Amino acid sequence: MEEILETYTATELEHVKVWFKAASTKDFPVDGGACIKYKDKQIAVFNFARLDKWYACQNVCPHKMEMVLSRGMIGDDKGTPKVACPLHKKTFSLENGENLNGDLEAIATYPVKIENDFVYIGFSE
Ligand code: FES
Repeated sequence: MEEILETYTATELEHVKVWFKAASTKDFPVDGGACIKYKDKQIAVFNFARLDKWYACQNVCPHKMEMVLSRGMIGDDKGTPKVACPLHKKTFSLENGENLNGDLEAIATYPVKIENDFVYIGFSE
């Protein structure tokens, strides 16, 4: 099951080769997440309206390999925007993917940009 995690590679802005046009900004709940598909990846995309920011990360939670993070609650951990997995509440930084309340592997995060009311996710391949 862990091989699912190899599908996801954290991507820094400077390594983006493809800006994938995911969906209209209206397709994402305010202060919530939705899942999009890019190739064989499921990506959780968050419209963090309270911070006026957008975030993207792998949808799979590394705890039990469930595709659920897009349905997680978003919030704040000492100034770090985070998502809590809806199943067992493991939390991850939306900035760098770090597991904030445990020792799970970091999740992969991806750059997001908004252009003309469309959401684009940055991938390195
Ligand atoms: S599956 Fe995500 S915390 Fe358990």
